[in-house]
Amino acid sequence: MTNQVSCWSPGPIERSCHFAIRHQVFVEEQGVMVLTDVDRWDDDCDTIHVVAAHGSEIAGTVRVYPLDDYGRWKGDRLAVLPAHRASLVGMRLVRFAVATAAAAGGLVMEASVQLPNVTFFERLGWRCDGEPTSYYGLPHQSMTITLDNVDPVVAVVDSVAVLRLAVGDLSRNPLLVNS
Ligand SMILES: CC(C)(COP(=O)(O)OP(=O)(O)OC[C@H]1O[C@@H](n2cnc3c(N)ncnc32)[C@H](O)[C@@H]1OP(=O)(O)O)[C@@H](O)C(=O)NCCC(=O)NCCS
Repeated sequence: MTNQVSCWSPGPIERSCHFAIRHQVFVEEQGVMVLTDVDRWDDDCDTIHVVAAHGSEIAGTVRVYPLDDYGRWKGDRLAVLPAHRASLVGMRLVRFAVATAAAAGGLVMEASVQLPNVTFFERLGWRCDGEPTSYYGLPHQSMTITLDNVDPVVAVVDSVAVLRLAVGDLSRNPLLVNS
C-alpha cells in the first residue's frame, strides 16, 4: 500500500462508505452511540461529508458544517479505521476539514474532542476552550481553531479507492441493510 492520503467530499456511493466507517468506529468499536451515529446534521444541506483514502482503500471520515451565519463551523465524526491508524489519515482529515470550512467563509471552527485525542488536536493547532463536559456520556473537551491563514483546500478524488471492513461489519449496519 502506498502512503498517499487523499481527502474529498464523496458522491452517493462513497457517501455510504463514509457512514459505514462512522458506524464501525462510533457504534461497533467505541459504543459511543447505540444503533446509529446519524443525526440531524446529516440531513442538513450545508453539511459536508468527507472521506479519506489511504493508498487505494477508503480509510477515514470527518463531517463539517456551519453552526450559524457568522462564520462559526463545527467538525465532528472524525474516524479512521483501525487498520489505517497512525498513517497520518486522521491528521489529513482534520486539516482538510479546517481548510474546507475556511474556503466556505468560516472564521472559527469548533470540535468536541474525546479526552485521549486532545494532544492530537493541539499538535494540529487547536486550543482547549473551557473545561471538559459530557457528550454521549463520555468526557469531551471543547476545542477551537481560527480559520485565518489556512492553506487552501485541495480535494483529490481517488475514484479507484475501495472500502474494506472486517467480515460482518456491513451486515450489522442497519443503515446499509435497510437502504
Ligand atoms: C483519533 C484518530 C482519528 C487519529 O487518527 P490517525 O489516523 O490514527 O492519526 P494520525 O496518524 O494522523 O496521527 C498524526 C499524529 O498524531 C499522533 N496521534 C494520533 N492519535 C493521537 C492521540 N490520541 N494523542 C496524541 N497523539 C496522537 C500520531 O502518533 C501522529 O504522530 P506522528 O506524526 O508523530 O507520528 C483515530 O485514532 C481514530 O479514528 N480513533 C477512533 C475514533 C476517535 O477517537 N475519533 C475522534 C473523536 S474526537
